[in-house]
Amino acid sequence: QRYRDTGSGDKMNPFAEQEAWEEHQIGKATLKFGSKDKKQISDDYQYVFDDQIEFIKASVIEGDKFEDELPEEQLQKMEISALQKLQDERKTLPIYTYREELLQAVRDHQILVIVGETGSGKTTQIPQYLHEAGYTKHGKVGCTQPRRVAAMSVAKRVSEEMGVKLGHEVGYSIRFEDCTSEKTVLKYMTDGMLLREFLSEPDLASYSVVMVDEAHERTLSTDILFGLVKDIVRFRSDLKLLISSATLDAEKFSDYFDSAPIFKIPGRRFPVEIHYTKAPEADYLDAAVVTILQIHVTQPPGDILVFFTGQEEIETAEEILKHRTQGLGSKIAELIICPIYANLPTDLQAKIFEPTPEYARKVVLATNIAETSLTIDGIKYVIDPGFCKMKSYNPRTGMESLLITPISKASAMQRAGRSGRTGPGKCFRLYTSYNYHHDLDDNTVPEIQRTNLANVVLTLKSLGIHDLLHFDFMDPPPSEALLKALELLFALNALNNRGELTKAGRRMAEFPLDPMVSKMIVASDKYKCSEEIISIAAMLSVGNSIFYRPKDKQVHADNARMNFHTGNVGDHIALLKVYSSWKETNFSTQWCYENYIQVRSMKRARDIRDQLEGLLERVEIELVSNPNDLEVIKKAITSGFFHHSARLQKSGSYRTVKNPQTVHIHPSSGLAQVLPRWVVYHELVLTTKEYMRQVTELKPEWLVEIAPHYYQLKDVEDPGSKKMPRGKGRADMD
Ligand code: CDP
Ligand code: MG
Repeated sequence: QRYRDTGSGDKMNPFAEQEAWEEHQIGKATLKFGSKDKKQISDDYQYVFDDQIEFIKASVIEGDKFEDELPEEQLQKMEISALQKLQDERKTLPIYTYREELLQAVRDHQILVIVGETGSGKTTQIPQYLHEAGYTKHGKVGCTQPRRVAAMSVAKRVSEEMGVKLGHEVGYSIRFEDCTSEKTVLKYMTDGMLLREFLSEPDLASYSVVMVDEAHERTLSTDILFGLVKDIVRFRSDLKLLISSATLDAEKFSDYFDSAPIFKIPGRRFPVEIHYTKAPEADYLDAAVVTILQIHVTQPPGDILVFFTGQEEIETAEEILKHRTQGLGSKIAELIICPIYANLPTDLQAKIFEPTPEYARKVVLATNIAETSLTIDGIKYVIDPGFCKMKSYNPRTGMESLLITPISKASAMQRAGRSGRTGPGKCFRLYTSYNYHHDLDDNTVPEIQRTNLANVVLTLKSLGIHDLLHFDFMDPPPSEALLKALELLFALNALNNRGELTKAGRRMAEFPLDPMVSKMIVASDKYKCSEEIISIAAMLSVGNSIFYRPKDKQVHADNARMNFHTGNVGDHIALLKVYSSWKETNFSTQWCYENYIQVRSMKRARDIRDQLEGLLERVEIELVSNPNDLEVIKKAITSGFFHHSARLQKSGSYRTVKNPQTVHIHPSSGLAQVLPRWVVYHELVLTTKEYMRQVTELKPEWLVEIAPHYYQLKDVEDPGSKKMPRGKGRADMD
């Protein structure tokens, strides 16, 4: 919770005035921008300079200058077929020069650490080189990515380069979406998916090469994969292991993998000028928009890349930008706005890779995904507000939140580097040089040290790895976090008191979901409502993109949404009603429009639900429907989420029952005005306050009935009230 401590009076600190812009995080209702936004948009673009931000040129990151003619230019002169053009483009990548040496190194060593600047061709080329060199004759080449979007877009690109249909020779696998076939030899997948593959294929027998890509990101799944692949290469001498990374942590990877050799791909990088703001910016979103316009109006051609923390921010920035550029007049070139974030539909993702027409300038509004996972050609200007969204976990309370946090110096350097790929670049940091040097950490803390480990512990347990304290972690998680995870899994009855997997635990591990959600599904067997519960689980998995609320029709949208909340059924049941109603209309798109529901999200929920249905069969849970008994549905939800219970306080806020903490019902909840005495919630989000999102009312006696080993009567009793019947032992023991 670093940013909470930054002190509100600290004028040198751009992160101090968070509260001002945090508001826009809470639904779309309270959009708030800096005072600058209130200015009249004039036809005269002069206004751009009214609120100009002053930058100070600070330093230049020197790159290796390549004076020779850019190969791209040669390419344009030639009339060649698309495939041939792609083949030629492949040869212009920095990695191409080292193709033979790299293949030789792979032949010579079982484990190789590969380091190369983002955009040098590691992800798209290495698997192809291995395929061309015959490694796919006896197995697949698997390449992991920390992000879904990267796995999909890279697979698509590689399939184009190879001239094959996506899903045939080249495919991808992400959670709830498997785009591969028997033909697939190059498989791009999220690191989490490879982790799950260990469950069905513990020695990864179908692979000849595993490439753990973007290793520097140090996601939780990547860190766990490290331990697992390090173990299997010992007895699978035919398996090649590549660890690739964009930054210079290479020594650390090499040390961990028994001094594996490091293969460095010399980068092709141009110098990048770094500019800092003269004074801290109170509202980075607004400052970013102003800077975009400033660059657009004053700087020579070249595309702009801006880093935001998430979808909401990107959408907001897009909106303001569209609004402001309307008034720019015809003297100014067109500005093409391209958003990119994880949930962006695939067809729109492709837009960011399209070459910019000569008369226009492209501005890419991206999340951290563009830091190293994706390379967009033609970027000359980078705007770096200095923040990212980061998971944070408090092992003491077991609470996990997404926080908007200052980035690390390493991230800032990566971001700046994006501007110098094809020519000299400029990076505009929306913070001061003082902040950079004094406030930013050197490196980002690996996810394993700031997250809830319940899911990973369950996976490792089902892989037969019991001694977690001695698992070969590159950086071990805090032991309280491990204990907390074991405790939760025990409370969920996934582990017995010797720490061994129970039958329920084995069933839970089959679902690629958070253990609490898996438990809710497993419990639906007992409550005879599995049909309803998997619909709810699928809807929860889609995230917060079910309802939409267009600016000009907010009242209509809110009314439509509240229809599903009739009877104050709570958010989970409301989600179920949305799904069931949609199903009744035979999955009608028109119905979605009429109800202000995103068709795309619903289709995704349907896909997920179909897969959950398949998994139910696998764990031998019967599909049973019990749509009218809301109590049993709520009890099944509570069976998974009893850990997330809260009780109303006199003040109107809530207090979590175990590890007391003050929380509030999120304004988007159907129960926000109802304030039931007891609730169970899906997740906490921290914006201006700690909010519970997806909330359902519960009866306190259920807690004792469902989790008697976790809640005692005293936890749920009001002082002075009548005694409730005492629970006996664990209700759902195997
Ligand atoms: O992995 P690394 O950062 O080293 O590079 P890469 O992702 O293999 O990208 C190499 C080149 O492929 C980039 O310069 C992009 O132009 C291109 N590429 C693309 O056009 N579309 C993608 N989805 C991915 C890469
Ligand atoms: Mg890459």
